[in-house]
Amino acid sequence: MPQIFDRSSNALARMSLVLTGLIVIALGVTLDQLQRSPWVTRQGQRAEQPVPFSHKHHVQGLGLQCQYCHTTVEKSSYAGIPPTRTCMNCHAQIWTNAQLLEPVRQSWATGQSIPWIKVHDLPDFVYFNHSIHVNKGIGCETCHGRVDEMPLMYAQNTLQMEWCLDCHRNPAKNLRPTSQIYNMAWKSPTEDQPVWCAATDAKTGVPTAQSVDCVTRDPGSAGASPEMALLQTAATPANASAPAGDVAPAAVPAVLHYRKFTSQDQLGHFLLDHYKIRNSRDLMSCEVCHR
Ligand code: HEC
Ligand code: HEC
Ligand code: HEC
Ligand code: HEC
Ligand code: HEC
Repeated sequence: MPQIFDRSSNALARMSLVLTGLIVIALGVTLDQLQRSPWVTRQGQRAEQPVPFSHKHHVQGLGLQCQYCHTTVEKSSYAGIPPTRTCMNCHAQIWTNAQLLEPVRQSWATGQSIPWIKVHDLPDFVYFNHSIHVNKGIGCETCHGRVDEMPLMYAQNTLQMEWCLDCHRNPAKNLRPTSQIYNMAWKSPTEDQPVWCAATDAKTGVPTAQSVDCVTRDPGSAGASPEMALLQTAATPANASAPAGDVAPAAVPAVLHYRKFTSQDQLGHFLLDHYKIRNSRDLMSCEVCHR
């Protein structure tokens, strides 16, 4: 129909096709960005909590340990939010008139738990488990950031699949001694600040918080020298015959063979081995998280 649509309209049609294509692409990019944006993931947002509880005050200020409140984090899939009773351990005596704490007192009086808003909340089709992560040397700080410096809680990470997979692909880069999982300021070893580790899990084969012993001071000059080990062995019989009812003395450690680590890569691979962590292909398989 050249009499109706001349040459220029052909060009126009081509143009609009290109334009439509561009718009579709732009829309796709925007949607993708949106999906990753903090607005959707709620990363970094402070929720409007019934009580403005400050981790900074209670952890950094008062020196409370995470386990004091999140009691099940090493034993179960849930870290758990503390019951009002935990707050009342102190707030029955301190700040008893503070307006800020009214919801806490009310919860205590009525027995209704404080309606905390979840900051981290995975969809139901994702399986997550705290105990396995912390017992295999992933620190709270790796996933939750510097909680001890948060006046109000927020999510440091997106918790999107990509984020989980980034670690499951190569967990070694994030592994630390299990004795350090609550340490908010843990730093990977370097030439200047090495870490020495010795494995003690040879017998049981089951990694526990005690199975790898790591220290940040050269153990050659501290506890594990041959003289010390001899002294400790000599002391055993006396301890063994201690009167019944006495507190049992700590078991005498065998002479530990400490290895020195000066990079996260070295330490990570040592721990990968001793914590018996599956290979990354297994850890990336869909059934791990979608059961
Ligand atoms: C005195 C008790 C107490 C201590 C100690 C404590 N927390 Fe909490 N934590 C809470 C309460 C209460 C909440 C719920 C209110 C909120 O989100 O701020 C919470 C919430 C959290 C959340 C977010 C939960 C969610 O909704 O997704 C994380 C993560 C967390 N705590 C980590 C830690 C870590 C890590 C430590 C140790 C460095 C710690 N907490 C120490 C009481 C405590
Ligand atoms: C070990 C004792 C202890 C426990 C347990 C404790 N608090 Fe506190 N809390 C304090 C002290 C002490 C202060 C005053 C801190 C200051 O002024 O530096 C305080 C202050 C507060 C404040 C005032 C704002 C602030 O952070 O300074 C709020 C709100 C609060 N606590 C809520 C809670 C809640 C909710 C819980 C239970 C999840 C809880 N506290 C558990 C000792 C405790
Ligand atoms: C491997 C990453 C990772 C590590 C390590 C980790 N968390 Fe979490 N945490 C999460 C995820 C993911 C959620 C959300 C779980 C959900 O929605 O089912 C969460 C949720 C929480 C909650 C909310 C209550 C709950 O159990 O869902 C608390 C409290 C918490 N974590 C505390 C801690 C503490 C304390 C530690 C260290 C001992 C820790 N977390 C270590 C990833 C982690
Ligand atoms: C910083 C590292 C890290 C991050 C982030 C991480 N994981 Fe893991 N995850 C591990 C390690 C290490 C193991 C232990 C693997 C082993 O023992 O073989 C593990 C194991 C698991 C397991 C296996 C549990 C079982 O009983 O078999 C599940 C499920 C899991 N992770 C889910 C998640 C999910 C979901 C996320 C994201 C919300 C996540 N992980 C984020 C490091 C991580
Ligand atoms: C380490 C844990 C983990 C593994 C392994 C994993 N996923 Fe996921 N997956 C997640 C998490 C966490 C989410 C939720 C993301 C969110 O809330 O944005 C998710 C979400 C999804 C979704 C929903 C769409 C989306 O992206 O939000 C699909 C589909 C999915 N996963 C498929 C898979 C498939 C297929 C595999 C195997 C190739 C797989 N997942 C392996 C953790 C995992």
